[in-house]
Amino acid sequence: MIEHNRPTLGEDEQQAVSRVLQSGHIAQGLEVKKFENEFCDFLGLPEQYAVALSSGTSALFMALLALNSKNKSIAMPVYVCSSLRNAVAMAQAKEVLIDNATDSPNICLKQLKNSHADIAIVPHMFGFPNEIQNIKDIDVIEDCAQSLGASIGNKKTGIIGKAGIFSFYATKLMTSGGQGGMFVSEDKDLIDKVRDYRDFDCRRDKKYRFNFQMTDIQASIGRVQLKRLPSFLERRKKIFSMYKESGVDLLESKSNTSVHYRAVIKVRNPIEIKENLLEKGIKTIIPIEDWELLDDSPKYKNAYYLTQTTLSLPIYPSLSNKEVKNIIAYLSKYIK
Ligand SMILES: Cc1ncc(COP(=O)(O)O)c(C=O)c1O
Repeated sequence: MIEHNRPTLGEDEQQAVSRVLQSGHIAQGLEVKKFENEFCDFLGLPEQYAVALSSGTSALFMALLALNSKNKSIAMPVYVCSSLRNAVAMAQAKEVLIDNATDSPNICLKQLKNSHADIAIVPHMFGFPNEIQNIKDIDVIEDCAQSLGASIGNKKTGIIGKAGIFSFYATKLMTSGGQGGMFVSEDKDLIDKVRDYRDFDCRRDKKYRFNFQMTDIQASIGRVQLKRLPSFLERRKKIFSMYKESGVDLLESKSNTSVHYRAVIKVRNPIEIKENLLEKGIKTIIPIEDWELLDDSPKYKNAYYLTQTTLSLPIYPSLSNKEVKNIIAYLSKYIK
């Protein structure tokens, strides 16, 4: 069976975990601090401008809390996973849903600007950078769960908006052992707030705080994966180009500084192709299904259209060239 997605883990990750286990300190500690600082270095931030958290969702919630979002309006795409809605609900803010741009997995920036929302959560879906740099009147939280390593101009995604969040879930561009997240910002005040919310223990004041900490075991895996990330991204690029050369109709970013989180083909009959490929032992997914849209009203027509016309192919570093060639061979039978 060729899985749709698989984390790429090896001996270095195993050694890192045993080092932490042997040290006897497994909860949040020095490894987390090192991971945060190495992450800052990767993004081009000064040390201490990243806060490691338990997931992308908790990072989103922390970002909303730090931006005092209670009762404020939060613009976000209808074409996205439910974690955005969950974070907005936890922060007691009001969601304002927005359609995609035409033929794009990303939120329509024109509609976003006209929404007059107070804050926006803007994911760079599939690794396609969304050009948010000209949004001035709305505080943008960049959701980089799918875009770690992508950039806009000379800045990496995550440090272009007011704040950025990342996910290290098992199937993301890198993992910190199955779950994990990061909050980043160039605004020291926001960083201090999120760090304060996270570090809940032994505090004398009666402020509410949250245990969304990452463990040193997770961070030790994250540190190894971050070192391997450039090679992961290269391998994904190579697989993407193999698909492209085969002539399949791929959804592509207009930017040449995107990352290839997904290889999504445009087809008329995704469900049928998905079932046929599964019979051959190849797992694919519809990246966002129609029932997953945060609202299924017909007014979100670009988002709905994508749910009916896209299929996501396996693309991850441990996928071999032979497996890619097999996928291409079977695909060519079903795509007319
Ligand atoms: C665009 C986007 N935002 C946020 C998240 C939430 O991240 P996590 O699963 O780490 O909570 C995900 C991942 O599922 C995602 O794809």
